[in-house]
Amino acid sequence: MTWNVEEIRRDFPVLHREVNGKPLVYLDNGASSQVPQLVIDRTSKYLAEEHSNIHRGVHYLSQNATTAYEAAREKVKRFINAPDVNCCIFVRGTTEGINLVAHSYSKAFINEGDEIIVSQMEHHSNIIPWQVAAEERGAKLVVIPMNDRGELIIDEYENLLNERTRIVAVSHVSNSLGTVNPIKEMIATAHKFGVPVCVDAAQSVPHFAVDVQDLDADFFVFSGHKMFGPTGSGVMYGKREWLDKMPPYQTGGSQIRTVSFEKTTYAPLPAKFEAGTPAIASGIGLGAAIDYINSIDFVAAAAHEHDLLEYATQRLSDIPEVKIIGTAAEKASVISFTIEGIHPHDIGTILDQQGIAIRAGHHCAQPVMDFFEVPATARASFAFYNTREDVDKLVDSIQKVIEVFA
Ligand code: ALA
Repeated sequence: MTWNVEEIRRDFPVLHREVNGKPLVYLDNGASSQVPQLVIDRTSKYLAEEHSNIHRGVHYLSQNATTAYEAAREKVKRFINAPDVNCCIFVRGTTEGINLVAHSYSKAFINEGDEIIVSQMEHHSNIIPWQVAAEERGAKLVVIPMNDRGELIIDEYENLLNERTRIVAVSHVSNSLGTVNPIKEMIATAHKFGVPVCVDAAQSVPHFAVDVQDLDADFFVFSGHKMFGPTGSGVMYGKREWLDKMPPYQTGGSQIRTVSFEKTTYAPLPAKFEAGTPAIASGIGLGAAIDYINSIDFVAAAAHEHDLLEYATQRLSDIPEVKIIGTAAEKASVISFTIEGIHPHDIGTILDQQGIAIRAGHHCAQPVMDFFEVPATARASFAFYNTREDVDKLVDSIQKVIEVFA
């Protein structure tokens, strides 16, 4: 493996700070990844030298900012191999992107008696928008079950698809379990029924290369802040055949062709779905995050993360009090666990005193917690800048937690 983790770590300033008097061990990448200097510099340069509103100015700064923002969209297109740059809609993040799809797609295509399929392992942001859409349209939410390892039961999924199904909304990688779903096969199965699939890719794009054309995804949504970019950036890619027929999600400036008090007509893609002034600095920063990913060996990065996951799984499995929640055969970068008799918030708080950042809670996936009959889990989630030493510190501190509570 050619991965030089120490060299990579130098690109991320925050990794060199101390927290609570200890060197930071950042293992909360599933919530938000850290930002490399390249992204910080590009965003600062925009704010210091280039800031202006886009798409409507005739002056130099506005045209310059427009060019930079649209260049970021081109980078997104290449990053996910979208067929058409205008089908890459900038949003504030995955939550906004899925709300957009659920709102606009359901208005155009979902009616009384129809069915929407989601899975048992979804993040709340890939459940609630569909639940609301189902309520509004008189449709029914149908749930793909999972097994004890936290894998979707694909045979059951196939049985759920029928002539009433209007869309499948499913995560590429589960944020609470780390399960990598067989998304390409699931999309192919849905397409046999003429059903489109909306992929929540928030937890996949930071970890391995994706290709929306190869997957044949109908909608593909992700956040910038989990892939080394700024908060307030994200993308909703959709196939033109759907987007052209869907009404706007939000309305207002920048997204219209003509407005009168009698009637409004909308601009073509992507403007139709981008009402108002967007998060320009964040969008340009997302473009820089893609530049950063393109500058590293992403295949070696994925292999390094996989090694960390296997190493952490092995080391945590050796502690009898620790129970790993989510043991799918295919996993990416997430390890959720509980410790008998200790609340995950206590685990998280004690680890924080050691400078170790993990997440504790239900991870916005209460149905997953219900399934495993736990109120919450502790979750360590890796990025390519983490090290085996980080894992060792995590494991040592967990052992101390167990001692304290013994
Ligand atoms: N969705 C983010 C997580 O899984 C916040 O932590």
